[in-house]
Amino acid sequence: MLVLMLVATATLRLCPLARAQPLCRIHTVRTGKMFQVGQQTQGDHLYFSPAATRLIKHPCKKSIALYLGKQLFFTRNNFESSLLPFSIPTSMQVGIPEVTSAHFAGSVLLLVVNRKVYIYDYEAGTWNASMGIKHPVSHISGDNCCYSEHHFCLDISNSVFAYLHGDQTSQTNIYFSNTQGYRFQKYAHERQAELVGSLGGIFYFHSLSQVGLLLIDQGKAKFGYSDHPLNHSFGLPFDYNGTLDILITPGQKGILIFWFEKSLLVSRSAGQLVDPIPVREGHRILYSSIFEASITIHSVAATENELAVLTRENNLYYGSLGILTSFLIKFADQNIWSQEAALMFTDLGMLEILTPLPDSVFPAFDFQKCPVNIQAILMEPQLQVDFCKVELLQGEFENKMFIIDMNSELELTALMIPRPGTSPVPLAMVSNPHSLGLQAIIYEDGYTYDGNMKHRLNISLRQQHHWGRADPNFTSSIKRPTISTITLDIANKEISCVDLKPLTALISVGCDLEKKIVIQNEISACYKGILDPVALQDNYSYVIEKEAYDPNFRGQRATKDLVVYYPYEKLGCPLLAYYDTPWKPVVELWREGKFQEVIEAEYVLLEVNGLFTYTYALTARTALCTSQPQNWTTIIENAGDKGPFAWDRENYVSCHDPNNDAPLNWPDVPYQILGGPTENKVAFKQRNGIYVFFISIVDPYYSYCHLQTTFSVYVYGAFPLPVRQWEITKFLLMVAILLSVWLAYIIPKMLHTEQGHRFKGFWFSLCRRCRKVCACFRCRR
Ligand SMILES: *[C@@H]1O[C@H](CO)[C@@H](O)[C@H](O)[C@H]1NC(C)=O
Ligand SMILES: *[C@@H]1O[C@H](CO)[C@@H](O)[C@H](O)[C@H]1NC(C)=O
Ligand SMILES: *[C@@H]1O[C@H](CO)[C@@H](O)[C@H](O)[C@H]1NC(C)=O
Ligand SMILES: *[C@@H]1O[C@H](CO)[C@@H](O)[C@H](O)[C@H]1NC(C)=O
Ligand SMILES: *[C@@H]1O[C@H](CO)[C@@H](O)[C@H](O)[C@H]1NC(C)=O
Ligand SMILES: *[C@@H]1O[C@H](CO)[C@@H](O)[C@H](O)[C@H]1NC(C)=O
Ligand SMILES: *[C@@H]1O[C@H](CO)[C@@H](O)[C@H](O)[C@H]1NC(C)=O
Repeated sequence: MLVLMLVATATLRLCPLARAQPLCRIHTVRTGKMFQVGQQTQGDHLYFSPAATRLIKHPCKKSIALYLGKQLFFTRNNFESSLLPFSIPTSMQVGIPEVTSAHFAGSVLLLVVNRKVYIYDYEAGTWNASMGIKHPVSHISGDNCCYSEHHFCLDISNSVFAYLHGDQTSQTNIYFSNTQGYRFQKYAHERQAELVGSLGGIFYFHSLSQVGLLLIDQGKAKFGYSDHPLNHSFGLPFDYNGTLDILITPGQKGILIFWFEKSLLVSRSAGQLVDPIPVREGHRILYSSIFEASITIHSVAATENELAVLTRENNLYYGSLGILTSFLIKFADQNIWSQEAALMFTDLGMLEILTPLPDSVFPAFDFQKCPVNIQAILMEPQLQVDFCKVELLQGEFENKMFIIDMNSELELTALMIPRPGTSPVPLAMVSNPHSLGLQAIIYEDGYTYDGNMKHRLNISLRQQHHWGRADPNFTSSIKRPTISTITLDIANKEISCVDLKPLTALISVGCDLEKKIVIQNEISACYKGILDPVALQDNYSYVIEKEAYDPNFRGQRATKDLVVYYPYEKLGCPLLAYYDTPWKPVVELWREGKFQEVIEAEYVLLEVNGLFTYTYALTARTALCTSQPQNWTTIIENAGDKGPFAWDRENYVSCHDPNNDAPLNWPDVPYQILGGPTENKVAFKQRNGIYVFFISIVDPYYSYCHLQTTFSVYVYGAFPLPVRQWEITKFLLMVAILLSVWLAYIIPKMLHTEQGHRFKGFWFSLCRRCRKVCACFRCRR
């Protein structure tokens, strides 16, 4: 081995310019020209305004791409056939067909032509002018999500910004579209008027769930962000020499490439930190930046984890976008550059230098291609590239989408096979640590299989509970669902690990739609024989007397009694509650039809028919509130047209929250929140009957879901209403008084007559009857 290396070094010394193989072998694509004769393009030929070329690939559909130069070419097969220059129908009346920016948004191609946005639906072959933009724009920006068909992945592809590059940020008009660019609306960035500098771009950084606005001022640029906690400060300033083109690499990892002829920078944190990319030779840093290397960049291509640069000096540079570092190495010279050349990756480790060639006979252009096999070139000894320490990195979770709700965890597994004798370090990173303080921890265990050492990696994604609820930097996304990605890679991976793609998954930090709440119903009113399930199922109805309900939920008597049909299919048999015992339901969390836990979080109840014959055991004072608690009256007042059942995790404010500054003016009002830290319960008034409750979990820390349902309770055991009882008592009392007066008058007389014996008989029978009535009365209770 050592001898071999010595020989290699010796050879190298002897003929440093000798190379085993050229970078690439040129071939020309020239097909399908005959079909296009006569198909001489209609419309205006588009051209790209900067003197340079660009090549934009669709991040999800690998064979769709757009070449921008003196002509534009749109391909759906990776330029595998000759193409007519791309043109826009004259009916669009663009004027000067000059293109300044282009972007793929899902199934459409957006172009800024002559300062207006146009949409080309390449599936349908139709063109449209976008609506809503009232001022000239020069650029569009957006991102594409390739992970799944889930709605929030589609939302990413549908979001587009349009703006005028270089305009004064404080007064410029920025437009946003969530309809793939068909319709735009003015976008208002928080405190835009106060921002100093010109606009270098605006981007939706989905990896951070933030909008980032690039401000340029006196040769420096920095990002400002839209949402808490990043909106309090700016990203670190970096050198802004020339006009930087900004590429968002696919995969929502937050990797950005900034470049112009003399500068190349990278950010792995969606612009919070931006650094120049150094040029290395072996382990040595030759130049700390492209500026220092004094080369002129002509074209840049980037994928999720690779980067390539073509220079005017006929050089090709290659780099990998690692999880911790990025750098470039220089490949040997070859005469590959021309003014029209552009660079694109066709596959992992496969690069292509593409040049359109005009044809003197046919209008369609041919394509000269020079495919570069990166892996093969990296094997060349003069590049002094270390071998890759990892043979395999594999995980089922790759390119999938997962949901993580509050108080949930996610476990992902992967397999790593290192090269024998090495010990590479796996690393897992989340792109958006502000999302609930997401943290990834790798548990690694090695085992031997078939004589090879394998490493099983368990990646546990969880929230940093120990940061505590109070840390605003990590509870920023409590009310706002966010997304993040998790990437598993090897720390300081060698550049030769071309085939070793980092594994990435998309994490939606939001509601898990499989979650439901269920009210425990172990002792139902049917089980106890109090209600008859057969009768309940048979279109059962009951009457709510007008004194007991308010259709407007304000606690005022209604004007007429209400007949309520009992929806048995929906509610089943009601729970049973004894009127005189403070009560609260047992709320359970179920997921995918399986019981998870009893919910201890805060929730609220509201009788759906407006019954108000119940109150709460605690008051604001006894619940130890430090501020005035919310109640249904205040919620309904503020709900507007959202209807009465509007109390949820988004508008709930705890009266125990130290940041809640509503003064506690009415400490004796009932405290209407159940669960959570207090022992609050519902206290039913003296009324038997069915209550149908709406329940809503309001604790914002329990789940992103709006956990709500309805259930019914049968309250029993109450005496008849006090009004009627008092009337009966009054009547009986009157009878008793009259009777005793009469008796006091008659008895002394009667006892001396012979009717006396008959009277005794009457007395006894009266007594017997009275006992019956009394027993009966007791029954009714
Ligand atoms: C696009 O333009 C066509 C006519 O050219 C029109 O029929 C269609 O409704 C437009 N589509 C949208 C989404 O505006
Ligand atoms: C940041 O955003 C939060 C809410 O999103 C807002 O309350 C706060 O005022 C903002 N701060 C700044 C400095 O803009
Ligand atoms: C920008 O230009 C200055 C000199 O004009 C140079 O010192 C600096 O390194 C350049 N920055 C980058 C990122 O190219
Ligand atoms: C990884 O998970 C598997 C299955 O859950 C378990 O058997 C193994 O012990 C775990 N390994 C580590 C290091 O935690
Ligand atoms: C929260 O973030 C701000 C700036 O964004 C920082 O100054 C502060 O120290 C952070 N707080 C904690 C507890 O990390
Ligand atoms: C239930 O009763 C109401 C009123 O009597 C009637 O309109 C309705 O059709 C009945 N429904 C069923 C399913 O019997
Ligand atoms: C609701 O709260 C307000 C104060 O926020 C109080 O004035 C009102 O009496 C409360 N209503 C009920 C029914 O407790």
